[in-house]
Amino acid sequence: MLRGDRHSRLRGDRERNLRSRKQQLFAGLPREVVEIGPGVGANLRYLPSGSTLVAIEPNRYMHGRLIEAAQRRGVRLDLRERMAEQTDIADSSVDSVISSLVLCSVHDPVAVLAEVRRILRPGGTFRFLEHVVAAPGTPTRLAQRMLRRPWAWTFEGCSCERDLEQSVRAAGFATLTVERYRVHTPFLPFNTHIAGIARA
Ligand SMILES: C[S@@+](CC[C@H](N)C(=O)[O-])C[C@H]1O[C@@H](n2cnc3c(N)ncnc32)[C@H](O)[C@@H]1O
Repeated sequence: MLRGDRHSRLRGDRERNLRSRKQQLFAGLPREVVEIGPGVGANLRYLPSGSTLVAIEPNRYMHGRLIEAAQRRGVRLDLRERMAEQTDIADSSVDSVISSLVLCSVHDPVAVLAEVRRILRPGGTFRFLEHVVAAPGTPTRLAQRMLRRPWAWTFEGCSCERDLEQSVRAAGFATLTVERYRVHTPFLPFNTHIAGIARA
């Protein structure tokens, strides 16, 4: 099987696993949302038809499928080939930023979180869902340590060892709610997740 086919099957399984969590997290989004790292549009289904997505997606190989998916879902797409570390969006101009499974892949998660905070209006929300480092001494943590290199190679630079809960806590949002949970998948390094809402 081609690498791309395998990835899209894995993506489908992963999305089925995360669906109810995402339904809760993304409920009631405003009609204009900024998404960092939307990929091929896994989160478009959670936006109401007729809304606008400002998509910060540096990987142009994702763009064709993202554009098609947005058309299918009736979402107006404002696609920007930029890194989330520097979005070029004005200060305090955005009501809502979303992301899923992106802070594990960005070059500098601290810079991305500072950028999200910078562009949010006071009271605006950052809703996120990420896989994170497991607790020290657990079998999952051991698997993450042992598999980190093949994991990063297979999933295009993704780290399975980031303490992203700590990164979001340290980012200086006014309020933060975070929930930790496990995803049941044979991909052990991917089992430990967080989902949350940070308010600027
Ligand atoms: C694992 S994929 C997740 C895609 C999508 N959010 C999802 O849940 O299926 C990681 C995404 O982050 C994007 N990405 C990587 N580095 C980035 C950066 N510095 N700024 C914005 N997006 C980035 C990748 O191009 C890719 O689309």
